Amino acid sequence: MSQDRLQEIVDFVDNNSIVADIGTDHGLVPIYLSKNKVSKKIIGVDISEKSLYKLQSKIENNYVYDNIETRVSDGLKALKPFEVDTIIISGMGGILISKIISESISIAKSANTLILQGNNNIEHLRKFLHENGFVIVDESDVYEKDKYYQILKVKCGLEVYDNDLEYEFGRILINKGSKNLLTYLKRNIEKIDIIIDEIRTLSHEESTDKLELLSRRKESLVSVVKEVEDNRPNK
Ligand SMILES: C[S@@+](CC[C@H](N)C(=O)[O-])C[C@H]1O[C@@H](n2cnc3c(N)ncnc32)[C@H](O)[C@@H]1O
Repeated sequence: MSQDRLQEIVDFVDNNSIVADIGTDHGLVPIYLSKNKVSKKIIGVDISEKSLYKLQSKIENNYVYDNIETRVSDGLKALKPFEVDTIIISGMGGILISKIISESISIAKSANTLILQGNNNIEHLRKFLHENGFVIVDESDVYEKDKYYQILKVKCGLEVYDNDLEYEFGRILINKGSKNLLTYLKRNIEKIDIIIDEIRTLSHEESTDKLELLSRRKESLVSVVKEVEDNRPNK
């Protein structure tokens, strides 16, 4: 797979699965799953006919991809319950992913597995999942072009986390002692340190509250760093 982020996503797909890739756009995920005989059938879905054409033109004259179907649809609306066992939604914001699931919750729940990769608002997405009867069964993370991505493997069930940091950074990634998460946290701490230094240099009276907020945020991140480091394999 040409993109590391997409490789992490397809690595979560079970063999012989029937998959819907929502917001397929370039269609790289369906093509990979078909070419590598991971999935029995793949439905590439996009709200935009123009976007979907990119996948359609790839499969049109290539009989190898005869197990790929395309559908124009807003989210999961053009899927029937139990039509697929795996739903992939990736490359969109966490809020849009939550909205797509909530608008078709029974279809989402009829699948065995959801594989979700939000470009932002992951905390919102994790909370949404827990509040709507889903559990996060696995997570992976990757840096691509210096941007950090998290990928969630989700099933139906009940679960709740103890604190917001687990929703923001991922309980499973913390437990795995993820090297990428560690890098991400340390980079964020460095950014906070730079801002704290800048504020101290300017030393405005009204900056005290801001400094306090930043220090508290730094403390939280340091506590997660410690937990991730403690969980690192072979440390
Ligand atoms: C940035 S691309 C992501 C492509 C690919 N999934 C990935 O991870 O690289 C987002 C795609 O989602 C599609 N999209 C946005 N909202 C959608 C919705 N409600 N239902 C289906 N597709 C949607 C867009 O048309 C676009 O093609």
